[in-house]
Amino acid sequence: MVNKLISQLASVEILTPKLDDTLWFFKDVLGLYEVGRKDRSVYLRGWEDWYAYSLKITEASTSGVKEITWRTYSEEDLYTAIKIIESKGLGLGWDNGEPDMGVGKGYKFMLPTGQVGKLVWEMKLWRASGNLRSGYRARPIKKPLQGVQAKDLAHLFVFAFDSNSLKSAVDLFKSLTWHVTEILKNGDQILTYWGAFNGTAHDMAIGLDPSGIPGRLNHLTFNVDYADDILRAADLYSDYDLEIVGGPIRHGITDSHSLYVKEPGGNLIELLHGGYINVVPDWEPVVWDTKEDENRWLYYWGHVKEAFWDGSPVPKDKVDPELRELIRQKLGK
Ligand SMILES: [Fe+2]
Repeated sequence: MVNKLISQLASVEILTPKLDDTLWFFKDVLGLYEVGRKDRSVYLRGWEDWYAYSLKITEASTSGVKEITWRTYSEEDLYTAIKIIESKGLGLGWDNGEPDMGVGKGYKFMLPTGQVGKLVWEMKLWRASGNLRSGYRARPIKKPLQGVQAKDLAHLFVFAFDSNSLKSAVDLFKSLTWHVTEILKNGDQILTYWGAFNGTAHDMAIGLDPSGIPGRLNHLTFNVDYADDILRAADLYSDYDLEIVGGPIRHGITDSHSLYVKEPGGNLIELLHGGYINVVPDWEPVVWDTKEDENRWLYYWGHVKEAFWDGSPVPKDKVDPELRELIRQKLGK
């Protein structure tokens, strides 16, 4: 018996130096709903995200990821997960949550790859009221009338600054019951892992970063409802002068349709359609090897631009000072 500790990726907080332009991208082009504002942060959701928000955007001097939040299966599982994290010396302590957004207290920790994660149990399901309440009874809010109508948060891809941090992060997440679905190798060297807590082909990927800077984001991804939405997005992106960095493509890994764009704040954002479901208990991760498969793991058909490989760039001198200090304390980097 496996007691799953974590149910899902619940939300991601990203940074942007151009808050208004980034909001135009996520609200007008992707079609996410704004559900709240606090200080220099704005909370957004897709029409089929279950909790109040899945994306928090905070104004900063740089782009990148600030905090990644997962929900546990129960309160007991939260404390079990904290014990595992603390045994590895990665705990950062509690915050008070965001009760006005339906999110209770959270336990923060440092990923071995330098990003800040958070585990939460108390999280309220969210439902629209009034005119936006949907007649589809499972749907939390009506589909928006504008943009690409991005559905919900799918996954994020974080960078590991070296092979040891990659291995330690994967070991940590496996001990938190993350299910590795696919692996990319270059001969003997493992470059990237894909896996999921939630039974999808992946809700997170962790891959080696040639820049060696801790805490970086490669990209953040939302699902779309129809495969055609990928084409509609490519059309809108090109019409509104947004830089398409990759696609439309079909991934070899996870077998899904995909499109990558740079949002105006510099973060790499993917739209995804399809991909398999995998809850096979004795699944052995699928292995891709760049020597044999070249880049077919990324684009079985289609292509990506050179800028794809850099993800969401954060110059070394722009890493948030608070994050840099936490990384120094916890990882000695
Ligand atoms: Fe992705």
